[in-house]
Amino acid sequence: MSDIETMKSEALAAIAAAHEPAALEALRVGLLGKQGSVSALLKTLGAMSPEERQAKGPAIQGLREAVAEALAARKQAFDAAELAERLATERVDLTLPAPDAPRGSVHPVSQVMDELAEIFADLGFAVATGPEIEDDWYNFTALNMPESHPARAMHDTFYFPDQAPKGGKMLLRTHTSPVQVRTMLAEGAPLRVIAPGRVYRSDSDATHTPMFHQIEGLVIDRDIHLGHLKWTLETFLKAFFEREDIVLRLRPSYFPFTEPSVEVDVGFAIEKTADGRSRRVLGGSGDAPGHGWMELLGSGMVNRRVIEMSGLDPDEWQGFAFGLGVDRLAMLKYGMDDLRAFFDGDARWLAHYGFSPFDQPTLSSGVGARA
Ligand code: PHE
Repeated sequence: MSDIETMKSEALAAIAAAHEPAALEALRVGLLGKQGSVSALLKTLGAMSPEERQAKGPAIQGLREAVAEALAARKQAFDAAELAERLATERVDLTLPAPDAPRGSVHPVSQVMDELAEIFADLGFAVATGPEIEDDWYNFTALNMPESHPARAMHDTFYFPDQAPKGGKMLLRTHTSPVQVRTMLAEGAPLRVIAPGRVYRSDSDATHTPMFHQIEGLVIDRDIHLGHLKWTLETFLKAFFEREDIVLRLRPSYFPFTEPSVEVDVGFAIEKTADGRSRRVLGGSGDAPGHGWMELLGSGMVNRRVIEMSGLDPDEWQGFAFGLGVDRLAMLKYGMDDLRAFFDGDARWLAHYGFSPFDQPTLSSGVGARA
């Protein structure tokens, strides 16, 4: 056996015998490192005559390759063994109970907003948004409430001292209706959107807070009429309250931005609770004995002037709009009776009325599914 053959079989035997990564690394250095025996042999090639090099070169190169390959294969085996060992020992036990400490919950208002988005998405509505710091043109003028309109005074508006870009005043929006105008201007027609969000009025008692939540609905298309509005509201309220016996009553009303305007009442029954208190339960006609009507929302056919100011031709496009209080909906569905508690940030209230983040509202699981 030539010297090179001997070197090769010795090196391969040593590599095969290495039982840990450090020993293998020492072998690598001793063979292929700068001072290594195989490297030294490779260096002798430079001093050889071309004939000699042709004769010995392939054997020396073959030695280097064989050694390098054996080292790599052995290293891979060590790496694989180490990985297998880690996989076997490092485990995350997902069955362990979650720690007690983080106790966050989803606020009922957020939960209800998600439920509403879910229900309306199913009816083909997209979600639109607008700014809470609004220009009085969007909040009032474009909604058919010019400067001197008495309805402006009814809104208890918070104004800012600054001038709006178009010369009017800046304010905290008093309703979500300006999003109607913004969406028509931005997207044109046809449209089907809801716009949930915060609104502000200078008002505070058990049923009013200076900030509260509304959801606006807007449908613009050709040949839309009040029947579409009634069907949409009925379908939505039945899904939201998860009751088929929801009965609505439409009453003529007035809003500057709708014509005709319709206030919608919902029938409820008065039931006695076990502790002798009485509570209102939605469902059935409000005219039945022991029943009543509760005012729920404002709506109507979008006023021609609003459609015009929003850049659309009212002879081609019509639609309906509605607006209702989200906090009020949450109170009715989940049985809270003081609106102010919604915004106190009391951890006990949140622990009691809050929702688990895993309560994803979906139509199939029931939009009001509770843990
Ligand atoms: N913006 C009205 C309010 O805040 C509600 C409403 C919206 C009425 C849309 C009609 C149409 O009271």
